[in-house]
Formats: sequence, structure tokens, C-alpha cells
Amino acid sequence: MKKPTVLELKRSKGARLAMLTAYDFPTAKLVAEAGIELILVGDSLGMVVLGYDSTVPVTMDDMVHHTRAARRGAPQAFLIADLPFLSYGTVETALASAARLMKEAGADSVKLEGGVEVVPIVEALVRAGVPVLGHVGLTPQTASALGGYRLQGKDEETARRVLDGAQALEAAGCWGVVLELVPASLARLVTERVTIPTIGIGAGVHCDGQVLVFHDLVGLFSGFTPTFVKRYTEAGEAMRNAVARYAEEVRSGAFPSESHSFAIKDDVVKRLYGS
Ligand code: KIV
Repeated sequence: MKKPTVLELKRSKGARLAMLTAYDFPTAKLVAEAGIELILVGDSLGMVVLGYDSTVPVTMDDMVHHTRAARRGAPQAFLIADLPFLSYGTVETALASAARLMKEAGADSVKLEGGVEVVPIVEALVRAGVPVLGHVGLTPQTASALGGYRLQGKDEETARRVLDGAQALEAAGCWGVVLELVPASLARLVTERVTIPTIGIGAGVHCDGQVLVFHDLVGLFSGFTPTFVKRYTEAGEAMRNAVARYAEEVRSGAFPSESHSFAIKDDVVKRLYGS
């Protein structure tokens, strides 16, 4: 699959882009092999891989480490890496953080959270040649200030904030914008009002693309699964069963069988027994 250019992405309005997270070599490889060309190394890795209860503790080093692994698994994918919490508070830190993700880790784009308030940061990144994906609505890094992981844009004031944010990000040069946990009708309006693609998560069908967290989609995360997630398989259950069967077979002596063992000529061992 050919990697899309930033310009092609910017013009991919209505393309129904399918984006998925991946945080390591094997997952990025299988996600790419399954035909996903937009892979997000999200800071959701804090919860689904590193065991934190939010994205806040995720560090730049974590992001670089996981982005590099994902890149090795999917060399041809368009790889987007999240700028973690407090890594883009000033233009200087944002540029330094983006440089690490792109130059050290091989990301094609960064993603950052926020609307109107992050415009000067986005402008500086774009001016420096960094492709930026925006993220408005529920912004997990500041979820606590928004009252937790809850639907955003339910009243006129907060809905306007989402719309203004998306339009400001477009004007600042973002190639696309993630809309998280907003009503479908608001996502539709935003999608109609911006010329860059909107990528929804819990934002209904009218967005130009969709993104999900890999572990949610395959049923691998034992924590809370949001209602907007569709679980396409129960991989966690299958893996738990496989591990339980392995433990049982080791204890009963059924594993390893002859087919999982190696042989040498009998007389070699016989001679050792006799020595
Ligand atoms: O970190 C992440 O996985 C994300 C998606 C939820 C969009 O930001």
C-alpha cells in the first residue's frame, strides 16, 4: 500500500479514512497487513499498554520508544504520534518534542490536543514543516478539567467551542482534526464547515474518517470499554484461554509432546548414561 502524502490527506474529504492505534512492532505490522494505512501511536498507550489510569503520566521517552517500534512494524504506513501531556506547552518545547518524534522515531505527523488555545503552537509547528493532526471535543490529557470522560458539546457554548476549535486548527494549518466524543449532529456540522478531514471517535458516522483504540476493537483491554466502541473480536478471552490450556498441559505433562521436542541418535545418550 502506498503511503499517502500530507497533501493527499488534507484533500481526502469524504474518503472514509480508517485509522487505528498501534504501539508496538507486532501490532503495527498486523494493523498494516490488514489494510490500515493511518496508524496512530496514541498516548492512550498509557492506559492500554503501560497500566496508568490516564494519559497524563506518558512521557516523551515512552512515545519515542513505542513510535520507533510501531515504525519498524509498519514501514509503509502513515504514522502519527501523539505529543504527550505538557510536551507542547511552548513553541520551543513543541518543536523539540516534534523533532524527537519525527527524526528519532520516524513519525510522519504529530497529533496534539486543544482548539483555539493551541493555535500559536500549531502555526509554529506547521511553519517548521511538521504535519499536525488536531484533536478537539473530549481531550483525554485534560479530561479532568472537562468533568471526566464524557460527551462534549452538548450545549450551545461547548458545541461552539468544538466548532471554533476545529476551524481555528484548520486555519492554523492542521491537515486533519480528530473529533472525540461529540454528538453526531455536531460532528456533521464541523465536518461540513472545515475543508480538512475530520476523524471521529465516538462522533458518529458523518466524519470523514474513524479512529479506534486497537485494544478496544479486539477486546484486549480488561478495563472500561466505552459504549461507542465496537468490539470486533474477543482476543483477550482467546488469549486467556490459550494461556490457561498451556498451564494445564505443562502441569499434566501433555506439553511438550514429541512433535515439540528434538531427538539425537539413541547410542549418543546411551554412552553418556554409561560414563
Ligand atoms: O491516544 C489516542 O489513542 C487518541 C485516540 C483516542 C484518538 O488520541
